[in-house]
Amino acid sequence: MKPSQIIFSTYSPLMAVDTELVGSDGKTVATPRVCSLCRCGESSMKPMCDGTHAQIGFVGEREDANKPELEYYRGKDITIVYDRYLCMGIGYCGELEPVFGTHDQPKYEPDAAPVEEIIATIKKCPSGALSYIVGDEHYKNYYSQTKIVVEKDGPLLCQGKITLIDDQDSDSFLPDGDHYTLCRCGGSKKKPVCDGSHEEIDFKG
Ligand code: FES
Repeated sequence: MKPSQIIFSTYSPLMAVDTELVGSDGKTVATPRVCSLCRCGESSMKPMCDGTHAQIGFVGEREDANKPELEYYRGKDITIVYDRYLCMGIGYCGELEPVFGTHDQPKYEPDAAPVEEIIATIKKCPSGALSYIVGDEHYKNYYSQTKIVVEKDGPLLCQGKITLIDDQDSDSFLPDGDHYTLCRCGGSKKKPVCDGSHEEIDFKG
């Protein structure tokens, strides 16, 4: 299998190369060499691109260009690492409320639950916003299988070793871990990553 990639430019859809495309039900949608995935949110053939981005003048530029520094929350046995830029606000971390708080009142208390529970909760985060340090090791890659999951009414969940390439700007920050979420509703202010705007605009697809 060749290395999997997702390549895009400011005005283009996402070109997925050599990766499996899976629906939210876990069933394979396609395993093409190359496929063109909608990121303007308006294709009539979602998740595939039908060329509508050109007709509506889609511009995939990031409105929120600032990449915040990583945040480190140090506890006795574990350090929680939070990447605000990658966060899509899906809220799985809120299932461990003593540590992560709630969606409206987040917090980071690495000593408020057993380490195993914190790790299991961090691993549910699909965006890569949460990772952890134990000892000297920073753990942020967990996926052995490479695929793109098309989340119903939500983003693309990219998992495994999929290199993300901006064809026009190799200097801007892009996720480089083994899981991240890409906007396909067109509404994210942090394109190409999802920022949770699909909820606000009630994206369907
Ligand atoms: S899919 Fe567009 S912001 Fe989440």
